[in-house]
Amino acid sequence: MTTYADEATTANAPLTSRLFEPASLGDLRLPNRLVMAPMTRNRAAADGVPQPIMATYYAQRASAGLIIAEASTPNAVGQTYPNITAIHDRAHVAGWRQVTDAVRAAGGRMFLQLQHGGRVGHPDNSGLVPVAPSPVPLPDTIFTPSGHQPAVVPREMTIDEIHATVADFAAAARNAVDAGFAGVEVHGANGYLIHQFLAGGTNHRTDAYGGSVAGRIRFAVEVVRAVADAVGPERVGLRIAPGLTVNGIEEGDTGAIYPALLDALADVGLAYLHVVFADPGQPLFHDLRRRWQGTLIANPMLPWPGPLPADGGRREGERLLAAGADLISLGRAFLANPDLVERLRTGAPLNPVRDTGLMYVGGESGYTDYPTLDAVRRAETLAPAAA
Ligand SMILES: Cc1cc2nc3c(=O)[nH]c(=O)nc-3n(C[C@H](O)[C@H](O)[C@H](O)COP(=O)(O)O)c2cc1C
Repeated sequence: MTTYADEATTANAPLTSRLFEPASLGDLRLPNRLVMAPMTRNRAAADGVPQPIMATYYAQRASAGLIIAEASTPNAVGQTYPNITAIHDRAHVAGWRQVTDAVRAAGGRMFLQLQHGGRVGHPDNSGLVPVAPSPVPLPDTIFTPSGHQPAVVPREMTIDEIHATVADFAAAARNAVDAGFAGVEVHGANGYLIHQFLAGGTNHRTDAYGGSVAGRIRFAVEVVRAVADAVGPERVGLRIAPGLTVNGIEEGDTGAIYPALLDALADVGLAYLHVVFADPGQPLFHDLRRRWQGTLIANPMLPWPGPLPADGGRREGERLLAAGADLISLGRAFLANPDLVERLRTGAPLNPVRDTGLMYVGGESGYTDYPTLDAVRRAETLAPAAA
């Protein structure tokens, strides 16, 4: 039986593709249209400071058209899991500076994702009770240094806390630019704080930040506008995941929220909109494309949690380009293939993701030890001589 994975190999893909054409993003010139999707890898110190191994990891992947670095918290209470990266004090800026310097030296370009976890957090991770639009706990456990624990009931944010959080996002964006990032991506997806405000299931507020669609999009709009004011709209992207139910999200009215959100941001002049698990077969995808005049990054709908198709998502990416996306982001294929662009361009086989247990733990294994094609070839040449 031919499976999807058998068909979608790199070997039978045409060598020319729009994926490998250059593109512009604000002031940046991207050498190709492949974007490394943000991926939390939990290799920071306990206080959120990026470590030297992260400079190696990202520099290995510098041939991506653009790297969007992993979710980083803009304030202490926004911390989700242990050892995630942060960007709210000088030590974070200095740690990230080593990473952006290494990526720039390797010829790459990099944005940083800003993520406040909201109810996806735990006092054992941040030292603080998580905050959220409403006191609705995550219907799941949360990973902590002592293992998985039941989620706690988050504290409902006051209006003052909402305003302070908007300011924290703006300050974090300024820090990211100080750290050498070309821009930031506001994380409005995957069930974290901004998504919790958008979704009726997690936002039961009766004030200006809840209720109607106009109320529920208000926090997202204020964060994006504040971040754009802080660092310039051409340095800001927004990630959304319409309809995604991850982290217990129930939007209720997906078809109303996202068109309203995009219309409210239409005049800002953002660098891009990034749509997670984009499906070119869905009418909503086409509606968002019609409404969004700027650059659209699409993250294809690949089998989740896996296994990945053998082409890492190339065929789905090309379908999305044909449906109007400008850039394609891939996650796991970049995780396992530092030279993904070259492998896809030449039709070389991909490294599979080795061990998903290594995704969110410290250390080199499953992180910086995925080989490039050159390393594989060198090893093959040496092997007979050694035998
Ligand atoms: C290890 C891992 C960590 C992730 N961390 C983040 C993150 O920090 N922020 C985010 O928006 N998405 C995150 N994602 C989702 C990816 O950005 C991407 O949407 C997802 O992997 C699907 O793309 P793929 O099928 O090409 O892997 C993560 C995914 C993986 C596998």
